Amino acid sequence: MSPTTQLNFAIIGCGGITLQNHLPGLAICPDVKVVALCDANAATLEHARQQTGVTVTSTNYADIVKRDDVHAVIIATPNSFHMPIALAAIARGKHVMCEKPLAMNHPDAKAMADAADRAGVRHMTAFTYRFVPAMRYLAHLMRRGDIGVPYHYRSCRLQDWGTRDLGWRQVKKLAGTGEIGDMLSHRIDFANMLVGPMKRLVANLKQWHPTRGGQHNDLDDWAAIIAEFASGATGVLESSKLASGRNESWRSLDYVELNGSERSFVFITGEWNKLQTGKFGGPGMETIEIPREFWKIPGSPRDVNQGDPLVTFRYDQAWEFVDAIRNKRQCSPSFHDGAQALAVIDAAVKSAETRQWVDL
Ligand SMILES: NC(=O)c1ccc[n+]([C@@H]2O[C@H](COP(=O)([O-])OP(=O)(O)OC[C@H]3O[C@@H](n4cnc5c(N)ncnc54)[C@H](O)[C@@H]3O)[C@@H](O)[C@H]2O)c1
Repeated sequence: MSPTTQLNFAIIGCGGITLQNHLPGLAICPDVKVVALCDANAATLEHARQQTGVTVTSTNYADIVKRDDVHAVIIATPNSFHMPIALAAIARGKHVMCEKPLAMNHPDAKAMADAADRAGVRHMTAFTYRFVPAMRYLAHLMRRGDIGVPYHYRSCRLQDWGTRDLGWRQVKKLAGTGEIGDMLSHRIDFANMLVGPMKRLVANLKQWHPTRGGQHNDLDDWAAIIAEFASGATGVLESSKLASGRNESWRSLDYVELNGSERSFVFITGEWNKLQTGKFGGPGMETIEIPREFWKIPGSPRDVNQGDPLVTFRYDQAWEFVDAIRNKRQCSPSFHDGAQALAVIDAAVKSAETRQWVDL
């Protein structure tokens, strides 16, 4: 495919995240067209058809992935459908971006990554928060070694979802896990990206509400992990849907702190263009601005002066996928990153069940 050829996309799953992220992200990419839509729910599909004007629609993903005019597929269904849809799309030679958590468990996610590699297609896991400008700059500073020897990784995700109905997110056979896969998966990915792989962990999961919105809840409302990384650094990760007063959206807390021999860094998603940092032996933490070249990923067609930056950083995810397809390079984050996060999730679930440390 030459760099100027139009790329045709199909979207499978036309619910919340497709409308919020995937469609607006693709809409600003030049020579990219959404040509087919799929949703198992006919009313949701019809709503998406009306919103986009895309006329090729189906409630069955098999009809969509076999189409010759589709080059790439975005999967944004409940988690249990990610693997079968991805494998069907890969078998038809399509490039695939899939939502997180990539699969229901690590072996399934690894099988997806291996199948995509074998087929030679691009594969991407939608770890959207990697695209926050402050996180991109933090990753750069970590790669540069500014922290010295990394001692501690700490993350805290606190939201106020109360006891409301979470739909498929509270059904184990559709979601796999609760808070740990839904919210902590992004922060596990931060840890893997910033500090490297974990060596062992101990974890706990807690369900406070056996019903939500009057429906049975199978899954955890809170999750926490204490980890040791292969490098020897320690990790403490906590995530809750029950932090009253913290709000639900991006106004809620998404905090990462790193401490090393040379300095510390603090990242907060709500402060997309700032980091806090402090030097060993220094007077305390100071706030630094994110250099403008980190406000979007290289080549992104996004105008950084347009829209709410806490929304629009997400559109760089679509550009990463498009650019990787055009330039025949690996996506970052790939299915392998999605699988690595699931190895941690599987270990955390096992640790919580057995009340033991688990080696990865
Ligand atoms: N990256 C992020 O920041 C982020 C944010 C929210 C959600 N997500 C992930 O995106 C995925 C979807 O979440 P959502 O909030 O959009 O959920 P949603 O319920 O709003 O939408 C999911 C859609 O998939 C459809 N669907 C169900 N089974 C299907 C099938 N077999 N084939 C086709 N369509 C099917 C449903 O009818 C629904 O319209 C989940 O994996 C979730 O974890 C990621």
